[in-house]
Amino acid sequence: DTGETKIMVEAHELLKKFYHHLLVNTKEGQEAFDYLQARGWTREIIDQFEIGYAPDSWDFAVKLLSGRGFSLELMEKAGLIIRKENGGGYFDRFRHRIMFPIHNHHGDAVGFSGRLLGEGQPKYLNSPETPIFHKGKILYNFHQARLHIRKHQEAILLEGFADVVSAVQAGIAHSVATMGTALTEEHARILRRNVDTVIICYDGDASGIEATFRAAELLADAGCHVKIATIPDGLDPDEYIKKYGSDRFRRDIIDASSSLMAFKMMYFRKGKNLQNENDKIRYIEEVLQEISKLSNPIEWDYYLRQLADEFSLSLSALQEQLNRHRNNKT
Ligand code: UTP
Ligand code: MN
Ligand code: MN
Ligand code: MN
Ligand code: MN
Repeated sequence: DTGETKIMVEAHELLKKFYHHLLVNTKEGQEAFDYLQARGWTREIIDQFEIGYAPDSWDFAVKLLSGRGFSLELMEKAGLIIRKENGGGYFDRFRHRIMFPIHNHHGDAVGFSGRLLGEGQPKYLNSPETPIFHKGKILYNFHQARLHIRKHQEAILLEGFADVVSAVQAGIAHSVATMGTALTEEHARILRRNVDTVIICYDGDASGIEATFRAAELLADAGCHVKIATIPDGLDPDEYIKKYGSDRFRRDIIDASSSLMAFKMMYFRKGKNLQNENDKIRYIEEVLQEISKLSNPIEWDYYLRQLADEFSLSLSALQEQLNRHRNNKT
């Protein structure tokens, strides 16, 4: 009920402030603060995202929350604490982790993701699904990015928390991310309600490329104009910005984003030698298959001409083959 959800938000807001205080003002948070600085994040950006530190304790949150009169049963429902197996009380879910507060689209803190200070598993520990936290409906940083998204008439969709923080620090304030889950139809609808164009800039590794195909399809189905920004050498946006700087990220990655079809063509080319007859025919078939999925005849025409030019083929032969693909579909 709404009384309970209001209290859950209050608890998140309270903990967020304490975690942030511990990070920036105390000796306990020094190691975590050093870690964040080593990642290149400034005090300003740490403040802006209200990043914090959950201390190495089993009962920091339990004590704080019960001391402030919060029902521990409700706090367990909010995902902040966990009931002990033998029924004897509760312990903190988040311990010795860098805390990224997650806000709903009104800007209320409704969840957390806690990152390890080093390597290990799980790298990020997330709040579970609760009455106030639905991963499939929240985009990280959407509440801060919304006005920028509207002003720039585009949204930048990234893979993770660190990517958003680094992109925003680099001056790209219209950046949001899904959180460890695939983009959902609901995410796509939220973006579509606010903007026409979405630039997907996922990690440059194999799983990022795979996720790009899926996200692009969902966004296109929701009516978004999709562009793809690809990062070389398997880097992610955060790593790229650290290595090459903000200006190059903006110029060579975001501003150089391509159409979805160009991205697919680039992908189909990988590992093929287009001088080789078999590879060439396979490539052309793969591209035709993609063209056949387009609904706009001007687009078919455009891409067919491109194929015809590149491989010195007749437009009519390509059109005939495209029609076969289209008939197979139905
Ligand atoms: P990545 O594995 O690409 O991590 O996962 P990252 O964002 O680059 O993290 P850093 O730079 O090492 O800190 C992308 C996103 O998937 C979710 C998080 O939202 C992460 O940002 N994820 C990943 C989890 O929820 N849990 C995990 O254990 C790992
Ligand atoms: Mn802006
Ligand atoms: Mn990744
Ligand atoms: Mn990554
Ligand atoms: Mn990363």
